[in-house]
Amino acid sequence: MNNIDIPEDWKAVAGRTKQAAKICIVIGKIDSGKTTLCKFLIHKWTVSGIRVGYVDSDLGQSTLGPPATVGLKIFNTPPNQADYSNAFNLHFVGNISPEGFLLQTLHAVKIMVDKSLQRGSEITLIDTTGFVDGPAARILKLHNIELLHPQWIIALQAKDELEHLLKGYEKMDWQVVRLGCSKQAVIRSQTERQKYRIEKYKAYFKLARLIVEFF
Ligand SMILES: Nc1ncnc2c1ncn2[C@@H]1O[C@H](COP(=O)(O)OP(=O)(O)OP(=O)(O)O)[C@@H](O)[C@H]1O
Ligand SMILES: [Mg+2]
Repeated sequence: MNNIDIPEDWKAVAGRTKQAAKICIVIGKIDSGKTTLCKFLIHKWTVSGIRVGYVDSDLGQSTLGPPATVGLKIFNTPPNQADYSNAFNLHFVGNISPEGFLLQTLHAVKIMVDKSLQRGSEITLIDTTGFVDGPAARILKLHNIELLHPQWIIALQAKDELEHLLKGYEKMDWQVVRLGCSKQAVIRSQTERQKYRIEKYKAYFKLARLIVEFF
């Protein structure tokens, strides 16, 4: 956590949410810093002795496990980078984007959030894809929120790019926290994103071997 930029409003939200949150969802555009913010919150909460379930529902730029899956990992103590790479639960969705796979994505996220709650997480934190524009994205986010009932929707935006979603959530009386993106957030090219996915697949299947069945 030493080498990241932590805006003041990120610190404030870590304190506010830890009092009342049971389920938190982080939304934002691609490369807005969602995963960095999640890692920061996990660090702050676990330092305070809170058991945190991290649900990684980003199908393309997965943090836990290979792309095309939703992952869950429970943290009791502040994790280091390697702790995001070993032992976790996974649910296979079958695509690297939720587009065309809305039902499978929702189903996988619900299964992982339920598992997190069953395993006694005091806060379950859901990291999401940067899929926020267009009707399909609106439907996915809305149903995600209706299904999971997060106490907090944490929205990371550079300007007002999420307002088309957030105003609707507030009308439905959901608690929205708006945070600014860090100036250090870096936009990655398609090639970099693809390379990242290939590395995640390779890491996951490192010990895989061919099983030949004889009949
Ligand atoms: N607060 C920060 N301090 C330092 N670097 C940051 C910060 N926020 C984001 N970055 C950098 O910007 C890039 C994108 O951040 P991150 O992966 O957290 O975004 P994301 O919204 O999760 O992206 P994606 O949509 O691909 O999942 C990364 O290289 C990350 O290290
Ligand atoms: Mg991410």
